Amino acid sequence: MTEHRPIKKAVFPVAGLGTRFLPATKAVPKEMLPIVDRPLIQYAVDEAREAGIEQMIFVTGRGKSSIEDHFDIAYELEATMAERGKDMSLLEGTRLMPGNCAYVRQQEPLGLGHAVWCARDIVGDEPFAVLLPDELMWGRPGCLKQMVDAYARTGGNLISVIEVPDDEVSNYGVIHPGDEDGALTEVRGLIEKPAVKDAPSNKIVSGRYILQPEVMQTLQGQEKGAGDEIQLTDAMAKMIGNQPFHAVTFDGSRYDCGNKAGFVEATLALSLQRDDIGSEVRQIAERLLAG
Ligand code: UTP
Repeated sequence: MTEHRPIKKAVFPVAGLGTRFLPATKAVPKEMLPIVDRPLIQYAVDEAREAGIEQMIFVTGRGKSSIEDHFDIAYELEATMAERGKDMSLLEGTRLMPGNCAYVRQQEPLGLGHAVWCARDIVGDEPFAVLLPDELMWGRPGCLKQMVDAYARTGGNLISVIEVPDDEVSNYGVIHPGDEDGALTEVRGLIEKPAVKDAPSNKIVSGRYILQPEVMQTLQGQEKGAGDEIQLTDAMAKMIGNQPFHAVTFDGSRYDCGNKAGFVEATLALSLQRDDIGSEVRQIAERLLAG
């Protein structure tokens, strides 16, 4: 089997405006909104760490400094907690070491493709992962780990997909599927928001990608696409045929926390699974639904 270069870097685009969550996101980044007690960005970082990622690259913008603070040392908090004998494990996973994280600025939110391109110098000539923190992928193993395991076989570009009911495909990017082998599907094309009758599958692109560094050159000269933004999907579509391209059907749950109903669903689903509050939340939910 061919050895593929391992995926050691991950890009987290966090420079969007989060307008669907206003007014909450006026001064608080969308990616810092918590599902139970962890901000969205931390779920994504934990998922990347589990998949063997060593360097986390955040593409930030103005007003996003709380993301940097979240992964920094909090001297006063830590000292006070230690002094008062508080449980320090509450801060587990929140400190990224120098060299393990980097921040670049996307000065204007010109689209996801542009955000990824802003990280080009730090990514360099290596394959890398992209994780959209507002899509919470909840599974064991995590979504990126499932993809990294598949990548060891396929190399090339990989995206995660989930299957949705046929009548929902028009809201998403959909793959044109080729050969299938278990959870792995060859990708022959990508179609953005197709009409139900034109959709080539019900497998929609969810927010995890493994990309070859050549995508940066494709993004370099790319025109704006849908929504007047530089789209990552357009750049990926151009690479189909030149490099292997596969989709991994995610074995787990995906919550679209960029919209309000998805955010509430994630909060409820993850609360119900928790040892500390699960049964209490279940009683609350049952009471509310009965009322
Ligand atoms: P979204 O389109 O879901 O986020 O982008 P948004 O634009 O912030 O949200 P709305 O539509 O206004 O409510 C997915 C991810 O890509 C990042 C976002 O921060 C989010 O994590 N993003 C998007 C960027 O970093 N830069 C951009 O120009 C656009």
